[in-house]
Amino acid sequence: MNEQRPSAEAVERILKGWRYFGHPIRPGPAEVAAVEKGIAGIDRPRVLALGATPELIDLAIGLDARRVTAIDWNGNAAEAMRRLAGRDWSGVEMIIADWRERREELAASFDAAVGDGTFTFMGFPDDWRLLFGILRDYIVPGGVVVTRETFRTRERFDFTRRAEEATARFDENGRDLPPEKRLFVFRDMLAYLRMGSVIAAADGTGVVDIAKRRSMCDQLGVELARRYPEGDMAQAVDAIFGKLAKARPIEAVSTASMEEARGVIEEFGFRLESCEPLGDLPLPGAVRSMVVRREED
Ligand SMILES: C[S@@+](CC[C@H](N)C(=O)[O-])C[C@H]1O[C@@H](n2cnc3c(N)ncnc32)[C@H](O)[C@@H]1O
Repeated sequence: MNEQRPSAEAVERILKGWRYFGHPIRPGPAEVAAVEKGIAGIDRPRVLALGATPELIDLAIGLDARRVTAIDWNGNAAEAMRRLAGRDWSGVEMIIADWRERREELAASFDAAVGDGTFTFMGFPDDWRLLFGILRDYIVPGGVVVTRETFRTRERFDFTRRAEEATARFDENGRDLPPEKRLFVFRDMLAYLRMGSVIAAADGTGVVDIAKRRSMCDQLGVELARRYPEGDMAQAVDAIFGKLAKARPIEAVSTASMEEARGVIEEFGFRLESCEPLGDLPLPGAVRSMVVRREED
């Protein structure tokens, strides 16, 4: 998926869908604050963003980072995210590549790596190992890796029931809202269900069954398109569960257990410093801010 030159049409498609991505897919103020807290204490950090997540790159720039480098393998997404930026990204070095490719020129170059869902998009444990092995080279001793991840929970996410409940609640509570606010609430409901589908499609070991997740999401998309057939809400359904969703194809593949994750992290000379829950969505304790500190050599 190494796309070197952005395609204008693909970038436009991503931008078109973007306004329909709500919380918790998009990191909100609490998630951004958790990353800021994770890297606090490092003055003017050199930051590596794993993925072109606009909120995190803007945060690094706002912290007056000495260096901001982002790695994203999707050149179209990277270009779309640059256009969505709230800050001036002219000083951001963007590398279009897979995080799992080791780059000698980045050795000992960063005080912090940040990401939104980075390891949820890596298979556990093999890709986690690969990436922590690489980050050990990139991050200087005392530096941190701060990401938001989805972890395995005891509680199951019953996707069909949750979707029925959420839509019934929306129909009841959203009826009298002004259109802008209504769309906002609708967007967040879609984001909640989309993130819930990751947990719903994970097996007992935390591996996400991608085909199962796609089929669950496709079915819900058809049902929601029938139920909300017009205007912005129909567009939002398309962006999160329909054709437009495929404009920025990203697949969550693992929900690790925290204890197993700790084991892998420690193999590479890092320490799991904290792993605080971030809200209750899609399930309490599922989504956490993971702060991992690189030990001294
Ligand atoms: C980790 S995804 C998560 C979605 C996230 N909530 C967001 O929108 O910021 C963010 C970015 O990571 C990129 N990405 C996913 N896997 C990658 C990989 N193995 N190497 C490089 N970039 C990757 C995607 O292209 C996407 O733009």
